[in-house]
Amino acid sequence: MNFKDDIKIIGLKKIPLIKKGDSISEIIINALDINGISLENGDIIVIAQTIISKSNGRIRNLNEIIPSERALELSKSISLKVKSQGLPVKDPKLIQAILDESKEIIKSEHVLITETNHGFICANAGIDKSNIEGEGMVTLLPENPDDDAEEIRRKLKSKTNKDIAVIISDSFGRAFRVGALGTAIGVSGIDPILDLRGKKDLFGYELQTTIIGQADSLAAAAQLVMGESDGGIPIVLIRGYTFEYNEKTTIKTILRNKEIDLFRESVDDVIIKILKNRRSYKLPFALKNVDRRMIEECIEIARWAPSAHNGQFWRYIILERGKLRESLIDKMNEKLIYDLQKNGKSKEFIKKKVEKTRNIFLETPILILLCLDTLDLEKYPNNERTQNEFLLGIQSISCSAIYLLLTFEMKKLAACWYCAPLFAKKIIKESLKLPESYIPMAFFTVGYPLKTIKAPDRKELKDIIFEPCI
Ligand SMILES: Cc1cc2nc3c(=O)[nH]c(=O)nc-3n(C[C@H](O)[C@H](O)[C@H](O)COP(=O)(O)O)c2cc1C
Repeated sequence: MNFKDDIKIIGLKKIPLIKKGDSISEIIINALDINGISLENGDIIVIAQTIISKSNGRIRNLNEIIPSERALELSKSISLKVKSQGLPVKDPKLIQAILDESKEIIKSEHVLITETNHGFICANAGIDKSNIEGEGMVTLLPENPDDDAEEIRRKLKSKTNKDIAVIISDSFGRAFRVGALGTAIGVSGIDPILDLRGKKDLFGYELQTTIIGQADSLAAAAQLVMGESDGGIPIVLIRGYTFEYNEKTTIKTILRNKEIDLFRESVDDVIIKILKNRRSYKLPFALKNVDRRMIEECIEIARWAPSAHNGQFWRYIILERGKLRESLIDKMNEKLIYDLQKNGKSKEFIKKKVEKTRNIFLETPILILLCLDTLDLEKYPNNERTQNEFLLGIQSISCSAIYLLLTFEMKKLAACWYCAPLFAKKIIKESLKLPESYIPMAFFTVGYPLKTIKAPDRKELKDIIFEPCI
C-alpha cells in the first residue's frame, strides 16, 4: 500500500452555466487555464453529474409528462408517508419520470428508492430538481456516465498528453446513515475499487477481505469543495492520490450484484417467505396492543381476494377487548359445555376445553369474526345449484381469509383461524345483532407473537398432485 499523506482538492472556479451541447472537456481546459493550473500525470478530475446531464440534454420538463396508472397509484400510496415526514406530495409526473429511469422500485416510503437503468440504487432514480433553471425542469442521470468520463479523459489526454482519471459524481443518500455523500457514477482511468486482498497490513498479516471504494471516497472528498446547493463548483481537481492508472475501467465493478446483496430481497423471495412463514399462532400473545387501524388496513387488503361472480361475500367484525366480547365468549362456552355433555365428554375434559377456548378468545388483543353474507349469493330454483352457490360463497370468503392471514404475516402480526363460530352461529348472531343473512364462519385471533413456531409438516408434492392414468 502506498497512500500519500498529502492530497490536494482544488475546486475549479469560474465554470460557466452549462447548456445542452457544451463540451465539458473544453470547459475543463479553459477552467484550468483561468485557474492557472496545468494537468499532471495522476491527477483526478471529479465532475458533478448535473453539468454532464445538462450538456447531454438529459433534462425533462415534468409539465410535458402524462403519468401512467402506476405513477398515479404510487403517488397516492406514498402520500401519507410523504406528508408524515413534512415533505411536499410527490407529483405523479415526477413519479412517472422516476419510473422511466428505473429498472425496479426497491422501496416506496416517503421517498422512492429505485434501481436505475444503470444499476445504481438511489433515491428517485437520481432525478434532481435542484441546480436547474425553469419551473418543472429536472435533470436525469447521464445515460452512460462511464462513456462520458471516458470521452472527457481521452479529450483531455489528447490536449495535454497526461494520464489522468475522470470521475463523474452525484450525491447519494445512504441506507444506514443520515446524510448524502458524493458517490461515483462513472469512471475512466481509475478502477472504482482498490482491492487490497492479499496485501499485508501494518503487522504483516495478509488482508482477507479489504476492498476500498476509492472512486466513492474521491467523489465524497470532491463534494467537500463542490458544495451541494449553490456552491457553483461542479469540477474539482484531486492531486496527490496514488492510484494505478487503468484505461479499461467501469463503474459496474463497484455495484454489488443481487446475488451477493445481503440487504436486498427480490419480490419473489419476499412473497415466498411470507407464504411459507405464516403460521397458525396458538401461543399467548405479547402484551403489546394492536391498533385497530392496522387491522382495518389488513382487511382492506383482504378485499382484493378473488370471489365467485366477484360477489365479495365476506363480512368482518372486529371485536376488541371488552364487555361485548366477554359476554359473547361466555355464551359460546355455555353452548360448548352443553354440546360436550351431550357428546358424553368427561367433566374434566369439558373444564379444560372451556378454559382453553375462553383464554384464547378473551386474551387475544383482537378477535375477528368472519361471516358469509348469503344475501349476495345467486339464487336458483335448482337445489343442487343453490347448494353449490353456497359452497362458492364459502370458498370465496376463505380466499379473503387467506389474504388476511398473509397480510398479518406481512405486518409481523401473528394470527390463527378458529372454526368455533361454526358451532355457535345462532348465539353469535343474537349476541352481536348480526343481519339475518350473515352466517358466522370463523374467528381469527390476532396479536404480536412472543415466540416463533415450527411449521407443521407438509405433504409431499407427489402426494397432492394426482396424475390420472387414462
Ligand atoms: C378452515 C380452518 C379452520 C381451522 N380451525 C382451527 C381451530 O378451530 N383450532 C385450531 O387450533 N386451529 C385451527 N386451524 C389452524 C390449523 O390447525 C392450521 O392451519 C394447520 O395446523 C396448519 O398449520 P399452519 O397454519 O401453521 O401452517 C384452522 C385452519 C383452517 C384453514
